[in-house]
Amino acid sequence: MSRTRAYFDHNATTPLRAEVLEGLRAALEETYGNASSIHRDGQRARQLVEEARRKVAVFLNADPREIVFTSGGTESDNTAIFGVVAASEGSRKHVVTTTIEHPAVLNACERLEQLGIDVSYVPVDASGVVNPADLEAALRPETVLASVMHANNETGALQPIPEIASVCHRAGVPLHVDAVQSCGKARVDCGTLGADMLSLSAHKLYGPKGVGVLWIRKGTPFAKLLYGGHHERDRRPGTENVPGIHALGIAVSRCQVEWEAEAERLRKLRDHLESLLLSHVEGVSVNAGGSTRLPNTSNVRIDGVEGEPLVIALDLRGFAVSSGAACSSGSVEPSHVLTAIGLSREQARSCIRISLGMSNTREQVEALAGAIEDSVGHLRRIAPAAGSRVSAGGGSQ
Ligand SMILES: Cc1ncc(COP(=O)(O)O)c(C=O)c1O
Repeated sequence: MSRTRAYFDHNATTPLRAEVLEGLRAALEETYGNASSIHRDGQRARQLVEEARRKVAVFLNADPREIVFTSGGTESDNTAIFGVVAASEGSRKHVVTTTIEHPAVLNACERLEQLGIDVSYVPVDASGVVNPADLEAALRPETVLASVMHANNETGALQPIPEIASVCHRAGVPLHVDAVQSCGKARVDCGTLGADMLSLSAHKLYGPKGVGVLWIRKGTPFAKLLYGGHHERDRRPGTENVPGIHALGIAVSRCQVEWEAEAERLRKLRDHLESLLLSHVEGVSVNAGGSTRLPNTSNVRIDGVEGEPLVIALDLRGFAVSSGAACSSGSVEPSHVLTAIGLSREQARSCIRISLGMSNTREQVEALAGAIEDSVGHLRRIAPAAGSRVSAGGGSQ
């Protein structure tokens, strides 16, 4: 008998909203013109792109001319980092980022290092938050860019971006913010955040995969990465993904209307889930529990079990959760984010991430808590985590 599945991995990706799918399908079928063509079919495509640009600009409180459509979060992050570094003056260049960034930033920085550019990685505290004073201390006269994420994809911890932006601007350093996880789950207002560049990805907010945005504040030093046509005001060449961009516009508009009420609903569900786990499962603690977190994200450590077998056990029971960032699943290395907040490698391997979203209900949350309790009991009997013991008590950090 097939069981109904419950999806709790919304930080990895989200399903399409019905109206997004409808818009995507209609644009794929009907708006096939090239947005650069001057005939009517081209003009209709251009209209969809510019409409979406205005929607994104309203959503981010930015100028539509500062919105660049990309193929997603990874491209936006890379374009920001390499784009600013290439445009900045000086023979010695230095970039500042943090130890908890997504691989789209960390691996771009690793490449910078291979190219002879210095990179400093600012650590975070036990609740997964960067101290702006530490970031300030890392800045140097030759620093050309700082890149700090708004919300961490694994713990949900929100970073003090306005304070970090002030520190950067006092030193004349532009700030890029990876807001891929916070868009749609927290307030993302380019004016209030004070950053100079910001990345967004459609598939994290009920839009399609393979389309995103890089917001570039006017005046930010920037050199394009790709060479081709003069699309996107000469910042990102390539024939526009009109259906994807149109669908992204619909997704952000819906988010704009609904995110606050939804965030409150998810926060209650997430807190209910955590209190069930803390009271029913021995050895549970909430990673980054002491931080201001995304309302949908819960990263829990469960002593005495490995995260991977627990994810598989839950999958067999009909629940999709993650044992770390989806982008690095398959890797045996413990999460760099969890070790950065002070967990040992063994502790980091005993964690799962539960990220809630639109389809989740109280009943699903209670069923998930029950399934975790049962699966943990079973796994502790048959496959206890190497070197870890259940410590009584738990509690959130
Ligand atoms: C914080 C963060 N940045 C960037 C990305 C990459 O975005 P995309 O999947 O659109 O390339 C992700 C995706 O997991 C993410 O969570």
